[in-house]
Amino acid sequence: MTKIIFEKSDNIDGINISDCIETGFIDEKFLRKIPLNLPQLSELETLRHYKELSDKNFCIEKGFYPLGSCTMKYNPKVNEMLANLEGFTNLHPLQSDENSQGALELMYNLQNSLKEVTGMDAISLQPAAGAHGEFAGMMIIKKYFDQEQFKSKGEKRTKVIIPDSAHGTNPASSRMCGFDCIEIKSNEKGQVDIEAIKAVLDKDVAAIMMTNPNTLGLFEENILEISKIMHDNGSLLYYDGANFNAIMGYTNPKLMGFDVVHINLHKTFGTPHGGGGPGAGPIGVVEKLKDFLPVPVIDCKDGKYFRNYDFKKSIGKVKGFYGNFGVLVRAYAYILMMGKNLKKVSEDAVLSANYLKEKLKGTYDLPYDYPCMHEFVLSGEKQKEQGASTLWIAKRLMDENTHPPTVYFPLIVHEAIMLEPTETENKQRLDEFVAVMLKIANEIEENPAEVLKSPQKTPVKKIDETLAARQPDLRYKVS
Ligand SMILES: Cc1ncc(COP(=O)(O)O)c(C=O)c1O
Repeated sequence: MTKIIFEKSDNIDGINISDCIETGFIDEKFLRKIPLNLPQLSELETLRHYKELSDKNFCIEKGFYPLGSCTMKYNPKVNEMLANLEGFTNLHPLQSDENSQGALELMYNLQNSLKEVTGMDAISLQPAAGAHGEFAGMMIIKKYFDQEQFKSKGEKRTKVIIPDSAHGTNPASSRMCGFDCIEIKSNEKGQVDIEAIKAVLDKDVAAIMMTNPNTLGLFEENILEISKIMHDNGSLLYYDGANFNAIMGYTNPKLMGFDVVHINLHKTFGTPHGGGGPGAGPIGVVEKLKDFLPVPVIDCKDGKYFRNYDFKKSIGKVKGFYGNFGVLVRAYAYILMMGKNLKKVSEDAVLSANYLKEKLKGTYDLPYDYPCMHEFVLSGEKQKEQGASTLWIAKRLMDENTHPPTVYFPLIVHEAIMLEPTETENKQRLDEFVAVMLKIANEIEENPAEVLKSPQKTPVKKIDETLAARQPDLRYKVS
């Protein structure tokens, strides 16, 4: 088992920071008196330690990563270089507008690019993640209906409609904003059921939250009818834009009739998703909701860029300073680099998913057998009956240098295997993956007990998942 860096240190008592600083360089009164217990290793031993850790990790540079809903695609390294330019990394967010013109210009231009891809009238870059964008967007909807013009008519608008295929963050965000969530069932085609909407729609409904394509990877064919029904009722439509890589250049939330949208920059636009790293979930709104955006929004007057706080009805600030700036730089770099090819990104993402779907259906069940967008959901029911459920298919894949797909989500598919190949994989990789999936199905048919031994080649083999979930031990305790 790998030792942690503290255990490798040759000075377990820790070092006193004041010992490391030239006498007189920092005033005595500012020096910490208590030892910091920092591990002490040579540069070489430190490098070896982190290299060993990184070798144990799985990443897109190591192999195929078809984690459905998460868009684990390859992000060009040039984005990292640009986000690490000194002018960006050494800029302090408290510097004046005058001294931050370059950064503000970048943010202003990014807002404009995002207006173009979403079709929305105004953008705020502040939210730090998709769920955070949802929260900010639902706060806007809440504040919009809290206005006197609605209250005086006796409107309460306390409810939000959410399809049963929705990402879990949707009901969570609505609830955090004080809304009651009404779940509606999908129809037999995996689409939002219009009749189910009509059955629950009344004057208390503030909004519907939808993602399109939905989490089954299917495009909601009736979206225009749905948006008409909602608007006729005085309600708003929230677009969960986490799946934006499926539609760029072909359509946008505005054309579909949505009023508020968030986008996961850390999925589609140049920053990797996952790993707990920083993200960005900018939100966009239609004109009538512009004044409610979180401040500041970046503006430009007479060629000078500035942070505009003059939004009378703003929901306030939702993040320290101006959001995760490095992620915004990567997104802008990615958009500039791709240009009109953003459309090709979506084309390839959709093509790859349909290719895999067609190759794997039959061997694995495909409950919703329709042309998909950027992802699709198989079911491992047949394999479960043969003796190895979806969980074991996922674990077996790890022995094939492949990250498992998302499993058991969305909840409406039993034994769900959710696959998103993304646009950055070539046909050879897709074919290799198909071959592996067919091999595993064959193994389960012939000798499921063997599959249940996986994973055998990973640095960590079988783990007690219940114990890990119920009693996680994540801290290093100094004895
Ligand atoms: C459809 C959908 N909505 C919302 C989110 C939440 O985004 P985040 O993880 O950045 O909070 C995700 C995450 O992948 C998603 O797939």
